[in-house]
Amino acid sequence: MCGIIGYTGKKEAAKRLLEGLAALEYRGYDSAGVSFFSEEGKLITLKARGRLANVSAKVDACPEAKTSSCGIGHTRWATHGAPSDVNSHPHGTDALQLVHNGIIENYAELRERLTGEGYVFLSETDTEVAAVLLTSYYKKLGDKEAAFYAAMQELVGSYAFACVFADEPGTVYAARMGSPLIVGVGKGENYVASDITAILRYTKHYYQLGERDFAVVRPDGVTVKNSRGEEVHPPLETATWDVEAAEKGGYPHFMIKEINEEAKTLRDTLSPRIKNGLPDFSGEGFDVSVFRQIDKVHIVACGTAMFAGCAGKCKLEEYAKLPADTEIASEFRYAEPLVGEGDLVILVSQSGETADTLAALRLAKARGAKTLGVVNVIGSSIAREADHVLYTWAGPEISVCSTKAYTVQAALMTLLAVSAGLARGTLAEKRAREVVSLLEHDLPGEIDGILANDGGIRAAAHSLMDTKSMFFIGRGADRFLAMEGSLKLKEITYTHSEAYAAGELKHGTISLIEPGTPVVACCTVPAMFEKMLSNIREVKARGARVIALCPASAEDIRGEADFVLPVPTDDTAVSTIAGATSLQLLAYFLAAERGLDVDKPRNLAKSVTVE
Ligand code: F6R
Repeated sequence: MCGIIGYTGKKEAAKRLLEGLAALEYRGYDSAGVSFFSEEGKLITLKARGRLANVSAKVDACPEAKTSSCGIGHTRWATHGAPSDVNSHPHGTDALQLVHNGIIENYAELRERLTGEGYVFLSETDTEVAAVLLTSYYKKLGDKEAAFYAAMQELVGSYAFACVFADEPGTVYAARMGSPLIVGVGKGENYVASDITAILRYTKHYYQLGERDFAVVRPDGVTVKNSRGEEVHPPLETATWDVEAAEKGGYPHFMIKEINEEAKTLRDTLSPRIKNGLPDFSGEGFDVSVFRQIDKVHIVACGTAMFAGCAGKCKLEEYAKLPADTEIASEFRYAEPLVGEGDLVILVSQSGETADTLAALRLAKARGAKTLGVVNVIGSSIAREADHVLYTWAGPEISVCSTKAYTVQAALMTLLAVSAGLARGTLAEKRAREVVSLLEHDLPGEIDGILANDGGIRAAAHSLMDTKSMFFIGRGADRFLAMEGSLKLKEITYTHSEAYAAGELKHGTISLIEPGTPVVACCTVPAMFEKMLSNIREVKARGARVIALCPASAEDIRGEADFVLPVPTDDTAVSTIAGATSLQLLAYFLAAERGLDVDKPRNLAKSVTVE
């Protein structure tokens, strides 16, 4: 949710800023902008509404850009103020330019006060208020660091800032609270970035800034101070992701590349946690005896991560006989949740930075619950703050629409549930071994099989070309799968769809089924095939076109379907996870055939760091 970058060194800053922004564009793409110093030390700002290409064109036309060696950049997901040239970042004054990721909650009162001091605002943004506040303190105190600390005292909300002062070419100032920010370390050059993908091409080494840290970044060194102004020395981290992982590698879209990576990411995530055919989390210090000490599990997340959590809930209840609630993070945090010492709260998040999930984690900790993060981005806030973290080794997920992250989250939650079942004595070792083997040996190949035989999915997608509204239905674990399939479809194809518990349809919603209404019937759970068959017949009787997601064994269901989406197995340990891949492809093929911007659907951003 907004991407920021800063560079200082000897190379062409404007080029590096634009490259960084291209890698960060998935965090928001309503507008983009850069500020850089010319060779003579003049601070130049270029920004424009819309995609990065609009700013790139301005940079190309600016001769000073070629000799720039320090600057900042931003790609925006609009919060305060519509996407427009004037609301684009950087924002600033004669003294400085600032880029920001986050939300300044008290911007209205600060703006009023600063207007009283004679400052004039050009945009509707909260960021401009922060830039003016910083300017006002800089002019009063005459010291940049002091100005930052004074402004940070007053700002309420979340921020990652990168800032350049007009009177100090070559230095980037940075600070963070609540929004992610790293300082990349190169040779004779240093960076500031929202995440490592922005700078992977140039360095893999970085410092993770802590909450309320402040950094001064120059070509020959970096100084980091904590909220009390004391110098701190965060450990130098090295990214394990390589630059190819963050590039399309010949695929037309990141989304399809990332679906194709699911088999590998499953192996990467599961294999290190399997010893002698059984789960083993001891290598990462996670003691599964915790499952004997708790009464209840709460799985808290947002969006797709939430639906992966739902897959985990089903497995925890089935294998470990543990009550498991799934709760949307933005609801959980304001619902006075009944969470305490006897509970384990599992936070599922690809980015590890989702504001609501992070707030839910903090709330759970404050109430004395044990917390476990299931997180993809190493060193992210949720990973650092949870009592324990289990990483999903999915590598960078660039497409805004989550695919491989879901697959590994659901698989890891299943492995965890097996472990919990063994720890609690509720799952026979024989079945545990079967499930582990299915996850480790069968599932990756089955997903590759779906990708290799995608003709049926393409045909089903093509049949939806003119569809404006449709349904997804399912029972049990398939109800949650239906929700995930519906979310994928809505998100990237802009087709309205509703996900419904199949048995609930006849209590009202079936009135919306008309001749030709497409209904995707999710049937990966054999115990539910009979019931689903009845539901399929009910909607068919009203003229629905049925797309059945089911394995070969669901013969009767296939007989009723207009199209079939493959599920290569009917063992419920993995069938729902494999089914998700078919649904991801259904959405992908439709969006691609409609010529839509698959990786950057409108109004969205990847990492939702605001409430
Ligand atoms: C949908 C999607 C979102 C995210 C959600 C949570 O395809 O990607 O629904 O799953 O915003 O994000 P993380 O997992 O980063 O917490």
